Amino acid sequence: MNAWYKAFRTPLAATLAVAATLLAAPPARALDNGLARTPPMGWNSWNSFHCDVSARLVEATADAMVASGMKAAGYTYVNIDDCWLLKQRGPHGELVPDPKKFPGGIKAVADYVHAKGLKLGIYESAGTTTCAGYPGSIGHEDQDARQFASWGVDYLKYDNCGDYRGESYRQRYTAMRDALAKSGRAIVYSICEWGNEAPWTWAPAVGNLWRTTQDITPRWHSDQPANHYPQGILDILDQQAALSHASRPGAWNDPDMLEVGNGYLNDDENRAHFSLWALLNAPLIAGNDLRHMSDAVRAVLTNREVIAVDQDWGGRQGYRVRRDGHAEVWAKPMSDGSVAVILLNRGRGPVKIATSAREIGVKAADSYTVRDLWKHASTTSRGRIEAAVPTHAVAMFRVWPGAHGAAGA
Ligand code: GLA
Repeated sequence: MNAWYKAFRTPLAATLAVAATLLAAPPARALDNGLARTPPMGWNSWNSFHCDVSARLVEATADAMVASGMKAAGYTYVNIDDCWLLKQRGPHGELVPDPKKFPGGIKAVADYVHAKGLKLGIYESAGTTTCAGYPGSIGHEDQDARQFASWGVDYLKYDNCGDYRGESYRQRYTAMRDALAKSGRAIVYSICEWGNEAPWTWAPAVGNLWRTTQDITPRWHSDQPANHYPQGILDILDQQAALSHASRPGAWNDPDMLEVGNGYLNDDENRAHFSLWALLNAPLIAGNDLRHMSDAVRAVLTNREVIAVDQDWGGRQGYRVRRDGHAEVWAKPMSDGSVAVILLNRGRGPVKIATSAREIGVKAADSYTVRDLWKHASTTSRGRIEAAVPTHAVAMFRVWPGAHGAAGA
């Protein structure tokens, strides 16, 4: 071991080195709008309904969010994605909601959603058109933001389609940030530029969350390269492994909306997808049809012990601890000194996966409380954490040093 390396192994020198790095490159400050202090939770129309949106769908979804127990579990935003508007702006340059889909306009839907104690989200694009070819907001940022605010919109997903008129990503997304700030309404700002220009390096100062990848699809694995559409659960997961440092309260990496309950995902895959997104501090934006979901899917989306991992106030994103072939260990430090851990089996056939309290960074103790977040049962361990994990599945635990109140709960 050379002297330089040895010097950096001592705790004081390591601390000084980290401090020097932080001083040399201060992280971009988070957007200071006070919103999304924990990752936003809600629903969005795109993954299940694409352009088939309407007031009736949004209102029935708000009803279902309450009736299913999702609201009680923390879900708040009911978000309309693309295709809510007409192909032409109105005579004063304003956006016009499609009267066939939204006969009473957006304000009426917002009122309905608000009366349920929920919030409404809408969609636009930082180019000349939305991805489905409707008018985009470039050049109209102030006017559109004012319109959203006057309707009572609480959340904007801002996409990246159409012509950019020679403007940079930063310019286009900053223009809408400033327009939203001027609108006078508290509107969560969700940047959707698909990870194209490494948004984790600049978007924390611009938006509350930013997509990190191309669009998600309800498959375990898509076999597509990362810059291609669409991406499976594992493809997206692999692109998050290096991004944990970038998120913090008010500013989140967004590995795209949930596909729990959609397409080809089975129960184990749904649980794995939800667990991993929670460990990544992802926005938990359901993308299934809430009006017609099975009890199994509802149970996944409302697992409060897993949601608590996502919503931890400290907002430290989880990271990949180790990968051995198809077996992986992921961990996330929680604000109360516990650590959430996922044992992931990416492949086919059951695998025994093990880690230790020490490996995932739990403070040393004589014994540990290990809570299974899917079985809702606690055990005591001397430090070893292991499970036989089936095909395409996870085991998820939360580990406390010593005895913890949740034990046996
Ligand atoms: C892009 C976004 C999707 C969705 C569609 C709508 O593909 O990434 O999430 O909003 O546009 O057209």
